[in-house]
Amino acid sequence: MIESYETHEHDVLIIGAGGAGLRAAIAASEAGASVGVVCKSLLGKAHTVMAEGGMAASLGNVDPADSWKMHFGDTMRGGQMINNWRMVELFAKEAPDRVFELERWGALFDRTDDGRIMQRAFGAHSYRRLAHVGDRTGLELIRTLQDKGVHSDIDVYMECTLTRLILDGERVCGAFGYWREDGRFVLFRARAIIVATGGWGRMYKVTSNSWEGTGDGIAMAYEAGAELRDTEMVQFHPTGMVWPPGVRGLLVTEGVRGEGGILKNSKDERFMLRYDPKKKDLSSRDVVARAIYREVQEGRGSEHGGAYLDISHKPADFVRHKLPSMYEQFIKLADIDITKEPMEVAPTVHYAMGGIQVEAETGASTVPGLFAAGEAAAGLHGANRLGGNSLTDLVVFGRRTGEAAAAYADRLHTHLAIDEHQIQCEKELLLRPFESGGRENAYLLHQELQDVMSTHVGIAREESDMQEGLQKVLDLQERARDIDVQGSRMFNPGWHTARDDLFMLTLAEAVVRAAILRKESRGAHFRIDYPDKDEHLGRVNFIACKTDSGMEIKPQPIPPMPSELAQVIEETNS
Ligand code: FUM
Repeated sequence: MIESYETHEHDVLIIGAGGAGLRAAIAASEAGASVGVVCKSLLGKAHTVMAEGGMAASLGNVDPADSWKMHFGDTMRGGQMINNWRMVELFAKEAPDRVFELERWGALFDRTDDGRIMQRAFGAHSYRRLAHVGDRTGLELIRTLQDKGVHSDIDVYMECTLTRLILDGERVCGAFGYWREDGRFVLFRARAIIVATGGWGRMYKVTSNSWEGTGDGIAMAYEAGAELRDTEMVQFHPTGMVWPPGVRGLLVTEGVRGEGGILKNSKDERFMLRYDPKKKDLSSRDVVARAIYREVQEGRGSEHGGAYLDISHKPADFVRHKLPSMYEQFIKLADIDITKEPMEVAPTVHYAMGGIQVEAETGASTVPGLFAAGEAAAGLHGANRLGGNSLTDLVVFGRRTGEAAAAYADRLHTHLAIDEHQIQCEKELLLRPFESGGRENAYLLHQELQDVMSTHVGIAREESDMQEGLQKVLDLQERARDIDVQGSRMFNPGWHTARDDLFMLTLAEAVVRAAILRKESRGAHFRIDYPDKDEHLGRVNFIACKTDSGMEIKPQPIPPMPSELAQVIEETNS
């Protein structure tokens, strides 16, 4: 018997309900579109909350010399000049307005003595630039957008996993998936779709990402023909928790260093003085993560293989006031009082700079009708994202993309045709684990992938190691065809993992292939065998796309920067 499915219809469908998805939903709704937001978790349960220390915008409240030009220059240099410079320009110029907008919508930022929004220092930002709410800024951003969103006539569908974008010819016209609770199939028809599903950190063993970060939207976009960009650029946040093992990878905000925290090795040396004497502990994330990695490799690591992060020299009240979550996190999870003792920290996979290639102004992907915003979109951050730039990214480009998707949907007038064959293929793929009689376990396969990525495509990379990693990923892709799942579709996390595995395996291939091709070191991509930058490779992004013969990765020249922006780079290079 052919199983039916329920159908919902919207002008604009947004997949993902973190900061980018919510901001896009508000914008699309304000533009008059009927909007549906689908999230595989609960509304507000998003990686956005893991940007704890603040959102970067050149308000100049604490350091009046700050300007959009300085923010532009810092972001381009942080990204090692392979960023989409037009995105960076829009971002740096619009960031202050988006912060003020959040304030108008109820965000309770910390204040300066004279009542303005407080700003703190963060890695590789030339000025104190991060508007913050203690160390819970992402949470406050989500809370504010949720409050605004629920009054914006948006339909929210929670605990629903979408697994396939449906195309009419080359245009996207729907998304198909299932309700997590009982496995019933569901189709969303839409004239425009925005992917705002975040990144793919869960393909690594040690990560700050929670279970949702499996790259679904990016992999779906790739399957639908969208180009991916900069997939080799995986951000290791320098400071994740190390001990006890159950919390390994949990984020320790850069705000700790922003408020004066100092990194030390087992010899009590402030080792960042050696790696970056100027910016020290507030160097860019790629530099600090590599420094900790090197200290551990050379035998100067902490007890459990990391470094010590100490803020106990600051008054206890100050620490508890500025970093309330860190204080609680360490007391509750590690029995450490950070006002008295150092934390133990090590790099943790935090963010994918790579993702769906988009047009700067609109967030349009290379597939008509398909848009992307937030971590799922690529270009803004280049080879390394500066801390605090992601929350701002979500609201600057969430808004732009929501408006553009609504305008696109309006121009389309009518819904496109749904091809039942595509839905049937996806149903078969989803149901295969129940029928395969195979021998593979979805969880164990995921663990193997995490081992492969962590071992072969980690902080320090090398050709033969990555070639071996690629072969292992391709083998895992084969074996994933043989995943067996027991039980029914009701409340079955093993079944959900089986589909997540396919998404992650596709993206893992894109990460390794691009990492092999980038034969240089740049930002987060560090090659032991090519430790220097290559001038030619500094002028290209690597693009992954689906072809009849599999995944192809090709270099794409970076368009020359207009002279006025090149001038800004010059002016701001101190
Ligand atoms: O360390 C942090 O608070 C993270 C911020 C970010 O990723 O932007």
